[in-house]
Amino acid sequence: MRHTDASAKLCPRRSALASNQSHFSPTVPNHEPQTTAGVPALSNSSSSAAILETNLEGLPAPKRGKVRDIYDLGDTLLIVACDRLSAYDHVLSPPIPDKGRMLNQLTNFWFEQFEDLVPNHLLATDATDFPATLSAHTNLLQGRAVLVKKAEVVPFECVARAFLAGSAFKEYQQTGAACGHDLPAGLQRASKLSKAIFTPATKAETGHDENIDYDTLVEGVGAELAERLRSITLALFKAGGELAAKQDLLLADTKFEFGHVNGELVLIDEVLTPDSSRYWEASAWSPGTEPVSFDKQYVRNWLDAEGWDHESTAPVLPEHVVQGTRERYYEAFKRITGREPVL
Ligand SMILES: Nc1ncnc2c1ncn2[C@@H]1O[C@H](COP(=O)(O)OP(=O)(O)O)[C@@H](O)[C@H]1O
Ligand SMILES: [Mg+2]
Repeated sequence: MRHTDASAKLCPRRSALASNQSHFSPTVPNHEPQTTAGVPALSNSSSSAAILETNLEGLPAPKRGKVRDIYDLGDTLLIVACDRLSAYDHVLSPPIPDKGRMLNQLTNFWFEQFEDLVPNHLLATDATDFPATLSAHTNLLQGRAVLVKKAEVVPFECVARAFLAGSAFKEYQQTGAACGHDLPAGLQRASKLSKAIFTPATKAETGHDENIDYDTLVEGVGAELAERLRSITLALFKAGGELAAKQDLLLADTKFEFGHVNGELVLIDEVLTPDSSRYWEASAWSPGTEPVSFDKQYVRNWLDAEGWDHESTAPVLPEHVVQGTRERYYEAFKRITGREPVL
């Protein structure tokens, strides 16, 4: 028996389709999604409808992040990855079918890979192992939710970069440095750095995260924790980059989050997903231009082409962009893990 209808705000593909007719690419038939080889098409079952948000009956109202709904269960949290897509710090409409499942399962893959390097917040990833109070919601939660230890979150984002892109490239263009790292002259967009750098950022509750230098991190958390954050971040980034390289992907940069549980530093949140990382096709990389990536650049490019100012309400994504985004998340999952996500 399915419980999804009562507890989640679903966005069936057809409603997205109906409201976006005017944005349709003439090459995309409007009765079936366009898919690339190997990416399963959407069925019309409720399990494949995109989930914008959840409101699980019998539980306190969740806190909603840009992508996840977080239910406070006391010492533990239930984190539900929804299908919301954010870009430029705005949640876009409509949601991307299966995105939450793919992100959640990719994060769990990386937690497992990193088990020997750092403890993580996971308590259960299989919804049938969740507490009995959640049993009415097993179908909705399976594959897209985790039960985790509630952590005291370190209020900084731990970013590592092996290539010069995004905000670090912008800063370098203006100052010749990135987050306090003096870099050699003559680097281009997407240039490979001689060694990976740690470039922390504030974790803004609202608005944009801001890059900071290492000393500012030390002021915030103390020298000892700052050094641990730096060394763990770089160790995870190195291990992640090595695994990605085996799949002919370059891991250009990423962001980790950490927290404390009973005094122990643990890795939390999401890990090496296309939302938190730039993955590039190794064969497509050459300094000067940013390679086509599995991150949100595809959507950002569409938004930019629409002339959106990043402030006002974002334009509604047309069906072909929704499908194109879903396919990129799917491809990223497959390339990185070597297996298919369970959808
Ligand atoms: N174990 C944990 N304990 C406390 N907070 C956590 C834990 N894991 C993740 N979080 C928080 O849950 C939120 C995840 O939701 P998300 O939609 O990614 O939010 P955001 O908009 O802040 O990126 C983040 O704010 C993250 O810091
Ligand atoms: Mg997040």
